[in-house]
Amino acid sequence: MPLVTEGTMLRSALMNVMTATAIKAGRGLKRDLGEIENLQVSLKGPGDFVSAADRRSEKIIFEELSKARPGYGFVLEEAGTVEGSDKTHRWYVDPLDGTTNFLHGIPQFAVSIALEREGQLVAGVVYNPATDEMYVAEKGQGAYLNNRRLRVAARRDFADALIACGVPLLGKPEEHARFQRELALMMTKAGNVRRMGAAALDLAFVASGRFDGFWERGLSPWDMAAGMVLVREAGGFVTDADGGDRVLTEGTICVGNEIMHRELIKTLRMA
Ligand code: IPD
Ligand code: CA
Ligand code: CA
Repeated sequence: MPLVTEGTMLRSALMNVMTATAIKAGRGLKRDLGEIENLQVSLKGPGDFVSAADRRSEKIIFEELSKARPGYGFVLEEAGTVEGSDKTHRWYVDPLDGTTNFLHGIPQFAVSIALEREGQLVAGVVYNPATDEMYVAEKGQGAYLNNRRLRVAARRDFADALIACGVPLLGKPEEHARFQRELALMMTKAGNVRRMGAAALDLAFVASGRFDGFWERGLSPWDMAAGMVLVREAGGFVTDADGGDRVLTEGTICVGNEIMHRELIKTLRMA
């Protein structure tokens, strides 16, 4: 259990395991980012190289967490679900969130690791190795960015709000019309909108007050699990895009402080 003292925190054993794992995986990704800049200009492009970097990161995370907490299960983006002998604990792992950014040499990507205990998300770590920003949260213990305590933004006026979102991919044409309606309406109500391209960091940015809110559809549990703990522990509201509690099963998310969250849900309903 972490000891909290005036905005800094002594990390628990669990947090040490999670952060050390994220740093180890992140070190490889940071090294690979340098290589991408070379591949970017080659005819072949960095596609295969990025897939390999992604798999390498996941392998490191799987090995480190398996060693530190034998028996825990896994929901891994690349390798899928791994049943553990311990049925009460399960990791959610996105070894590289923000792949498209990474592929283009844009330093907005992260390693995302969350722990679920008896069906509840209890800890989350989101680490961007390019900026060395480590976001951590443990249920009931607050959220931190590199040891600084986090709080969601206190903004009350939606017309001043900076709202993040996700744009559905080319391969999801059925989602395009709805997103266009939502964005069109959002532009008339929120201060401004951003699409940064890494959902785990979008959530971390809401936890740290950089963004006032965030919504996205079509996400997977590993995109959201760690960031959900961050936002909740920073005092934010976390629901699915209908205002319900089926975030992980529906794959939609809407977060912000109480007022921003309410305005977001209202706007999404009207769209
Ligand atoms: C993606 C990112 C992106 C979101 C996509 C996700 P990936 O994850 O989080 O922001 O819009 O829907 O799939 O593929 O980079 O791990
Ligand atoms: Ca992802
Ligand atoms: Ca990924």
